[in-house]
Amino acid sequence: MKTTRRGFGTIAIGAAVGALSGPALLGRKAHAQTRADHSAGVYDNGIIQLNQNESARGPGPKTMDAIHAHTSKRVGRGYAPDHVNELEQGLADHYGVSRDNVQLATGSTPLLQGAVRAFCNAEKGLVTPMPTYSTSLATARTIGAGIVELPLGRDLGIDLDQLAANAEGAGMLYFCNPNNPTGTVHGPAAVETFVRRVMDENPDTFIHIDEAYIYYAAEGAMETALPLALEYENVFITRSFSKAHGLAGMRIGFALGQPQTLRRIRDAWGMGDVNMLGAVAALTALQDEEHMAWEIRENAEIRAEVVGFFRDLGYEAPDSNTNHIFVNLRMPAAQFRSACLEHNVLVGRDFPPLEQSHCRISLGSREEMTVAMDVFRKVLA
Ligand SMILES: Cc1ncc(COP(=O)(O)O)c(C=O)c1O
Repeated sequence: MKTTRRGFGTIAIGAAVGALSGPALLGRKAHAQTRADHSAGVYDNGIIQLNQNESARGPGPKTMDAIHAHTSKRVGRGYAPDHVNELEQGLADHYGVSRDNVQLATGSTPLLQGAVRAFCNAEKGLVTPMPTYSTSLATARTIGAGIVELPLGRDLGIDLDQLAANAEGAGMLYFCNPNNPTGTVHGPAAVETFVRRVMDENPDTFIHIDEAYIYYAAEGAMETALPLALEYENVFITRSFSKAHGLAGMRIGFALGQPQTLRRIRDAWGMGDVNMLGAVAALTALQDEEHMAWEIRENAEIRAEVVGFFRDLGYEAPDSNTNHIFVNLRMPAAQFRSACLEHNVLVGRDFPPLEQSHCRISLGSREEMTVAMDVFRKVLA
């Protein structure tokens, strides 16, 4: 086992050297510091929280400014939903669709819940890989729908052939791309082949493609399935502002698909009322491409460092396309979790059926991960 010492010190030194050699890098570094200042102290509660896949950096400076600018007595007049209308129109414009292809919700969670309630029942069950994000499964259990759980395929990726092969008579297939917790991803050709096969063989089955982590996917690794959602009534995608946009506490998510499909989802379950500050924040974050580019780079650099750290120690982790990694620690996740918690680092919950070997670790800020890697090294020694 190699014990190379990794840390963000190397990155900082690299950036400082780069700064001397060119104004572009200098600008980038200054820019990064401004952004870091804006998120300072977000998780300053004594525990480094690497368990929920939220953004460690929170919203960007423009989004923070927009939230502050709209924090006034005017919140007393929040029933007139101007900002919510603007967000819905902004999303439609951004994705080149019409407003009735967009369904807003208070986080994407109500959409996940509503979809299972709309399309699954005791006879027409939910088909879901395991492990994956579990809200759809939990909802299916709550309403007594049939459930088919499928193991992951090679390299911990979702086995799309198996998912398609189980579509007959199913109410809905849940496909998280990139997947939580494994961080694996499927490219556009594989997604299209899968969707067309299911729609040819079992056109009554619905397909939910959850793209909550799409912004964090490695460059060129995936594309949105939006064109397929617009083409097929039985296909829809969901997105969240809780991850790369840093707005988990604002609770904003949305679905894109055909109007009659979205109507069935919202008729089945309350979508909540998006609040005006959340709407202002989400629209600003959606349009702030410069900050998103920074956030993606920051996450990718931290991810590479932390994955490298574990691989150097001899532990396997699939390439991640999200803001978390899934490491084969060859020990129960619960054991690793409680050992880390003794050092004030909280890592992810159990993900059956891999909870005896794998642990999901959300990626915090550079500072948080520097501390966390020291803790991991101690716990694994
Ligand atoms: C894959 C996936 N989908 C959906 C959600 C729900 O997020 P939210 O309700 O904050 O949009 C999460 C949250 O962790 C997630 O990981």
